[in-house]
Amino acid sequence: MQFLGQKIESIIEEFLKSPDTNWQPSDMLPDSSNENFTKEIKELQAQCKELPYDYLAVLVGNVVTEEALPTYEAWLTDVEGVDKLKPEGWSKWVRMWTAEENRHGDLLNKYLYLSGRIDMRQMEISTQYLISDGIQIGAARDPYRNFIYTAFQELATNISHRRTATLAKKHGSDQLSKICGVIAADEARHAKAYKSFITKIFEIDPSEMMIAFEDMMRKKIVMPANFLRQSGEKIGATFTHFSDAAQRLGIYTSIDYTQILVSLIEEWNIANMSDLNTAAEKARDYIMALPQRFRNIADRGLKAPIEYEFNWIK
Ligand SMILES: [Fe+2]
Ligand SMILES: [Fe+2]
Repeated sequence: MQFLGQKIESIIEEFLKSPDTNWQPSDMLPDSSNENFTKEIKELQAQCKELPYDYLAVLVGNVVTEEALPTYEAWLTDVEGVDKLKPEGWSKWVRMWTAEENRHGDLLNKYLYLSGRIDMRQMEISTQYLISDGIQIGAARDPYRNFIYTAFQELATNISHRRTATLAKKHGSDQLSKICGVIAADEARHAKAYKSFITKIFEIDPSEMMIAFEDMMRKKIVMPANFLRQSGEKIGATFTHFSDAAQRLGIYTSIDYTQILVSLIEEWNIANMSDLNTAAEKARDYIMALPQRFRNIADRGLKAPIEYEFNWIK
């Protein structure tokens, strides 16, 4: 972390944007000081009329996931090598990444509030629960494992927001499509950053990096909303239904999980990685065999997920 952190300023320069020039949520929402405000809301609501039930459920799940940002910041701040007392080092990256991510929940939340389709109180209860419940990702405080997680997750959220953008357009809301699209673009940029950190670590510490990668894949990459629940439910009770709905719509599927893994294997040139100790060679072989194993399971396990009633939707 110290080695990578020497270049933190140029890393930030390359992958993060200044608040002055970055898009802000209000760029994509009706302006309440504008005399056409009511008319614009009516149009926005008309565009949302045809959004299907499962689609709204996935969107709410995505918003709640984004809104649980305090959890992610707290956890990244606690990673080894991130020192709150050194504000110009890695902690600057964490703060600036958080500041960008904060726009995602903010924008989607306001949009859903205006849409008239969501029971906002129920959504807010789920958000409060998810932040209270936290996450457990199995990466401990290890930067290698945490960067595997964040690289994977940024790619997963990119896919999810990108597909909700495509579907929004299909169901009549160009505005929502644009919103999900700009968020997806942020996630792609963040993914590039985290992938580049791992690339650098592979250059200087290939064996330990490989073992960390294997370890995270054995544990499986748990989604940040894994503990998602609705009012009155047990911890995590809603997550399966949320991911079933995403699966039904093809917004995020087990095939995507495999595809992300394949793309990371290619990105880091895992197949041709040499200079590894025996344990790391085994780890590399395990990782290389994993996509096919996932495909075999996916072929066998395809069944229609159960329909579910979400209290978030009006
Ligand atoms: Fe995000
Ligand atoms: Fe993200």
